[in-house]
Amino acid sequence: MKIRAKKGSFIKFDCEAAVVCHFEDSKRMSGAAALLDKRCGGLIREIIEVGDFEGKLFQISIIYTRGLVPARRIFVVGLGKKKDLDLEKLRGAFSKAARKIRELNLKGFATSLNFGKVNQPLDRVTESVAEGVLLGLYQFTPYKTVEREKIKELEEFVIVEDNDDSFEVVKSAVKRAEIISDAVCFTRDLVSTPGNEMTPTIFADSAGEIAGRKKVKLKVLGVPEMEQLGMNALLGVARGSSEPPKFIVLEYNGGKKGDRTVVLVGKGVTFDSGGISIKPSADMDKMKTDMAGGAAVMGAIKAVSDLKIPLNVVGLIPATENLPGGKAYKPGDILRSLSGQTIEIKNTDAEGRLILADALAYAGRFKPEAIIDLATLTGACIIALGDNVIGMMGTDDKLKKRIRDAGEATGERLWELPLWEEYHELIKSDVADFKNIGGRAGGTITAAAFLSKFVGDYPWVHLDIAGPSWLSKDKPYIPKGASGVGVRLLVQFMRNKCSHFLK
Ligand code: BES
Ligand code: ZN
Ligand code: ZN
Repeated sequence: MKIRAKKGSFIKFDCEAAVVCHFEDSKRMSGAAALLDKRCGGLIREIIEVGDFEGKLFQISIIYTRGLVPARRIFVVGLGKKKDLDLEKLRGAFSKAARKIRELNLKGFATSLNFGKVNQPLDRVTESVAEGVLLGLYQFTPYKTVEREKIKELEEFVIVEDNDDSFEVVKSAVKRAEIISDAVCFTRDLVSTPGNEMTPTIFADSAGEIAGRKKVKLKVLGVPEMEQLGMNALLGVARGSSEPPKFIVLEYNGGKKGDRTVVLVGKGVTFDSGGISIKPSADMDKMKTDMAGGAAVMGAIKAVSDLKIPLNVVGLIPATENLPGGKAYKPGDILRSLSGQTIEIKNTDAEGRLILADALAYAGRFKPEAIIDLATLTGACIIALGDNVIGMMGTDDKLKKRIRDAGEATGERLWELPLWEEYHELIKSDVADFKNIGGRAGGTITAAAFLSKFVGDYPWVHLDIAGPSWLSKDKPYIPKGASGVGVRLLVQFMRNKCSHFLK
């Protein structure tokens, strides 16, 4: 789907569908809706006056214009109460409108961002509208081979703007939204792809797609290099599978030489059967998504490099399967991690923290300004916070605040859990330095406490995305399935970090 900004008059714009908005608590129409209404002799006013359209959030009515204006149809979209309007609602409203238009098998639509006075800046409004459409229309169809002609696809979305200055703002915001949405959809594709076609090797190859860019370097460590370094936690998890593990290092040098680096670490378990501590078979298929953290890191690096954000960012993705093959690691085994610390295996299904332990230790090489890891780490996080919320834990209040702000701005909501000393007691081992589980109580926190042992003395935040990485139900602009969570959050974090850039 193509999205573009066009300079000109919205009411004179020729299209299959023109989208205008109306607030629930506005007596009169404003902005583009009022102008278009006037041109077509009060068609919109009529559906409001007779009470067929109230402007409730996400309400949609269709009006046929019968040649009164060039647009064949008007889609009137409700934005709810004016004072409650935020960017998240805008994303949702435009996604819903776009989906409705696609359902009718139309190929294109247009809108104006002149909603009357709203309390949001035009660049953010534009980005949100464009993102809502691009993210909301996502569908994953490569494995559908029959009746492909029944798959409906919208081809074009035009934002029409007649003011010269505003047009420039809209145009560059559309470009940014396209870059970010592409990255989210790239991540969604990786997460949706089944485990047989998303092995660690294929996952590492996917990073190759990003490595072609300016200032991006890719290094993939194989088994011999990992053995030499002593990444025995990652190698231990990988032993039960005949697919070789990969350690993916993606470096984006958008900043100056000598600028400190932000390291992003993403769990890349391309399939998690649980290993010898095997999972129940119900829903085990979902464990193809256990690389969503790694995929989000790849997507974020794709976006920050395409946006040319002036920062140095490194992505580290330990990638492996977790299977119970003949050589598999076992409960009772003790692994010597890259940091030198030893880990007693109590449960082979707590594999994510093991591969992250080596990746976090590796992160120290970059003497980072901050380390942020993303992982589908614990089912307990879904129990604690539900499946729409990211669990956040970490060691640095400033970093946590910045991530919280990015969460607010993007609608990728997160909630902090404590990392107090008493939780650290629970992962002490009788025979090794640590054990890889801390019991059922506080499972998300003991997992984070475990990770903290491998971070070194750097500001660090851990994001448990087990819940929101995969949706079982549609959300307004996130179709059910892989959500691509984390990409927008990380990109916003980076953008805020250099806020002189990208206005
Ligand atoms: N990949 C899972 C966590 C998970 C569960 C992600 C459900 C998404 C949805 C992780 O490797 C795991 O199995 N964790 C165990 C830890 C336990 C053995 C301490 C869990 O959550 O049950
Ligand atoms: Zn597991
Ligand atoms: Zn896992």
